[in-house]
Amino acid sequence: MKKIAMLVLMGTMCVVAQAGDAKRGEQLFVRCSICHGFSGEKSALNKSMIINEMTRYDFIDALKGYQDGTYGRDAKKQMQMAIRKLNDVDIDDLSDYVQTLNPKR
Ligand code: HEC
Repeated sequence: MKKIAMLVLMGTMCVVAQAGDAKRGEQLFVRCSICHGFSGEKSALNKSMIINEMTRYDFIDALKGYQDGTYGRDAKKQMQMAIRKLNDVDIDDLSDYVQTLNPKR
């Protein structure tokens, strides 16, 4: 019985660890705020969408697309430079934080 409880507990901890970490995302977002605004409320260089209004899916899709060259418009070079070093966990954590910035939520 104890063993089962332990397994259930460990399973829950894994799920928690996998979900994005908004606190970490907040730290990562400091660099982004230079162009996108502290709350992701600005159009970066007057070229980008307002990122705090994007869905989590579109946000992640855009960042991965900039990284592999399948997404972006005329100012994509700036974004590619800005997110060059982010890994999948960073992107997940950022998406979690940016979801908390949406004024309509
Ligand atoms: C040097 C300024 C700059 C920095 C720093 C920057 N961005 Fe951007 N971002 C832009 C520009 C400009 C675009 C629009 C590029 C294009 O033409 O596709 C953009 C686009 C985006 C988009 C897609 C929105 C759209 O318009 O399609 C997302 C999501 C995004 N940025 C997130 C981030 C995140 C997260 C960070 C920090 C890790 C970051 N950006 C850092 C300038 C910047």
